[in-house]
Amino acid sequence: MTEESRFILDPATRDLHADNRRLREAGPLVPVTAEGVPAWAATRYATLLTVLTHPNLSREICHWAARHSSPPGTAIDRIVTDTSMLNAEGDEHRRLRTAVAGAFTPRRLEGLRPKIESLTGRLIDRLADLPPDQPVDLRKEFAYPLPREVISELIGIPAGHQDELHELSDAVAQVGGSLDDTPELRKALHELLGQIIDQRRDTPGEDLITDLFRLREQDGVRLSTDELFATIELLFIAGHVTTVNLITNAIGALLNEPGQLDLLRSGKCPFSAAVEETLRWDSPIAYFPMRYAVRDIEIDGVHLRAGEPILACFASAGRDPGHYGEAAHLFDLTSPPATHLSFGHGPHFCLGAPLARLEAEVALTALFGAFPEIAPAAPPEELCPLDTLLGNSTRTMPAVLGP
Ligand code: HEM
Repeated sequence: MTEESRFILDPATRDLHADNRRLREAGPLVPVTAEGVPAWAATRYATLLTVLTHPNLSREICHWAARHSSPPGTAIDRIVTDTSMLNAEGDEHRRLRTAVAGAFTPRRLEGLRPKIESLTGRLIDRLADLPPDQPVDLRKEFAYPLPREVISELIGIPAGHQDELHELSDAVAQVGGSLDDTPELRKALHELLGQIIDQRRDTPGEDLITDLFRLREQDGVRLSTDELFATIELLFIAGHVTTVNLITNAIGALLNEPGQLDLLRSGKCPFSAAVEETLRWDSPIAYFPMRYAVRDIEIDGVHLRAGEPILACFASAGRDPGHYGEAAHLFDLTSPPATHLSFGHGPHFCLGAPLARLEAEVALTALFGAFPEIAPAAPPEELCPLDTLLGNSTRTMPAVLGP
């Protein structure tokens, strides 16, 4: 494969679902250049499933043959170089994941439900105070603040530090805008996390940072300072950025498919079905970096050499006609509940999936219940997509709420 014949994945110019259709048609594993990094893209559902569980594919960056020659400062580089569970395997991965898994048990999450409902209620009240015929950006005013507040509460980010942490982590994760470089930002983020951790150490609470301190005293789950930072940063970023996209994408789908919205309002389909169908049809994560071949392997007839990276194409797998049939491109709540890979699969399956599902279900039920006349304020093709390789959503979601 020559450099010229690789697909270029560029968030600045992409048309995500059209690009993905071309990628799927080109094969199950397609050579791409993702923000300057040559990689294989796993484009179809079955191939992505294989990739997510393959014993000879690893998330550990040490297996990436070209890691020293990749362009510095790409989004991929920023995400893969931390020391969180996302980039660990085997016993190391288990140790890092076990340290925080207790915060995501069904019991702990049910305990968060009243908080999520009251936060949602407050946001709805604020929306209801706006002029009913004036367009409002529901991404900014609704989809964004809810997951941000919830994850801050769960982690134990004091109110006085939330705005700064949100700004820094948004910048690092490039939510909805492009940034030239992040080393300075990352340093500032770490300084801030250090202050927050010190504060929790002095005044422990019912939160994840306090739990992590207690665990640090125990053998077997001890986290280094770097690991503690990386874990908090991962949870904070993963815990709101993707859920904002999920809620935004679901609102967009339902505003533009009134027939589907009627199914929910009439009780024929539960709101949880809309959450699952959005995850499949418009995955909040477009492409996710990277797994690396530990040795030479073959997947779906394609030979991969040791050290080569593979990009997981979650949004593409969700619309694969080979798995979902010829109507895969349609948002349809009447088809039987479909499985999807949008939370991953296997050992790295999303730790926050139950939380994201709960937040999105509460948010959609409240929004569409409160505003019976809600309507889109711009056609979907006029909305700007996010300028990131990883995220899949629009930068705004304008709607008129109505009386
Ligand atoms: C992992 C998607 C929300 C925390 C993952 C993975 C995916 C994903 C695809 C697996 C990555 C891989 O295998 O390479 C999503 C989506 C979300 C969401 C679509 C929202 C709609 C959340 C939330 C949290 C969270 C709310 C935390 C509060 C994590 C963590 C991992 C992870 C910690 C790493 C797990 C591991 O490596 O063992 N997520 N996520 N995510 N997610 Fe989520």
